[in-house]
Amino acid sequence: MSMASDMIELPTVDLADLASAEPEKRAGAHAAILEGFGRYGLLYLRGHDVPSTHELYDAFARFTARPEADKQPFNRADIWYQRGWTPPNTERAVVAGGQPDFKECWFSAPLPVDPESAAEFPEVCSENVWPSDAPRFEAMTMGFGSALHRAGMALLEGVACALSLDRDTFATRCEGAPHVFRLLKYLPLTAAQISAGVLWGEEHTDFNLLTLLPGGQFFSPSGEQAAAPDAESGLYLRTRPLPGHPRGLRVRPVAKPGSLVVQVGQELEILTGGRLLATPHEVTAPKTPGWSRFSAAHFIHLHPRAVLSPLPAFRTREAVRAYSPPTLAGTYSQKTLIDIGLAPASSIDSLGYRHYDRLAEQREGQ
Ligand SMILES: [Fe+2]
Repeated sequence: MSMASDMIELPTVDLADLASAEPEKRAGAHAAILEGFGRYGLLYLRGHDVPSTHELYDAFARFTARPEADKQPFNRADIWYQRGWTPPNTERAVVAGGQPDFKECWFSAPLPVDPESAAEFPEVCSENVWPSDAPRFEAMTMGFGSALHRAGMALLEGVACALSLDRDTFATRCEGAPHVFRLLKYLPLTAAQISAGVLWGEEHTDFNLLTLLPGGQFFSPSGEQAAAPDAESGLYLRTRPLPGHPRGLRVRPVAKPGSLVVQVGQELEILTGGRLLATPHEVTAPKTPGWSRFSAAHFIHLHPRAVLSPLPAFRTREAVRAYSPPTLAGTYSQKTLIDIGLAPASSIDSLGYRHYDRLAEQREGQ
């Protein structure tokens, strides 16, 4: 990444201001959204009802500590890992060197998905899977994802207003989509991996509409929640190019307790024709062996049938060309999941005609 700057004051948006009856409060929140997403690609969000992560991370830590054989039934390559357990060394970032990330994850959909989409895009719209002996883990995870989703949808109304779009511009395109909540464990590294400069998560941008992060938590080598072993490790984001900083500034978000970090995904970039840019981010590991880090992310997606192309307000010739050809959000997800190593490359064949053999059979009978 380019030069670091931890000194940037990132804007905070309060959901209470967005919902306020006072026009000045709403205008202030809209300005903060435009500054946060338009200039830096991220903002802090408060005024939500997302609970503390403490108990949730402990519950996920207990799951990840189970023997591999207990976790394997939830290792679902057949649904491209979109529900259940993603084992280590599975996903890789697109732009970075292609080294798989050092993490294991759990995916679930906190909200019902449009049943028609489940027929059209079965992998990304799969039913949730859960360990049968961990009802508390299931309930907490579902509650957490739902609370993050509510916060994100309230913010998206503000984003629409800030961009002078109809308030429900994003809401109507998100209803029934396969939004996913992800729990992540970044794995303990050895001294050799640390000296080789291994990253926990290589730099990438998210492919969904909006990502909400409740904040990560380090676990000590003995498995206790603990303060970070150094001040440098953790999540970093890269701003869009700024005057004097063509490669962007490297920012370490430090949200106040109770605030979420929210970042822009590729779908929002495309809909806004690049007015907002997807936020590059990476996760660096500490310099001390044996530490792990737990985090969570909620990914708000467009409905699989939503068309991914700049909205009318952003359809300049350049924007249309930069984001052509238009695709369906579901198709775009499929292509991206191939790119990051979660879906098999052969699944792209399903986008073409699959019934040529009917004619071949008819001709054979002649
Ligand atoms: Fe990400």
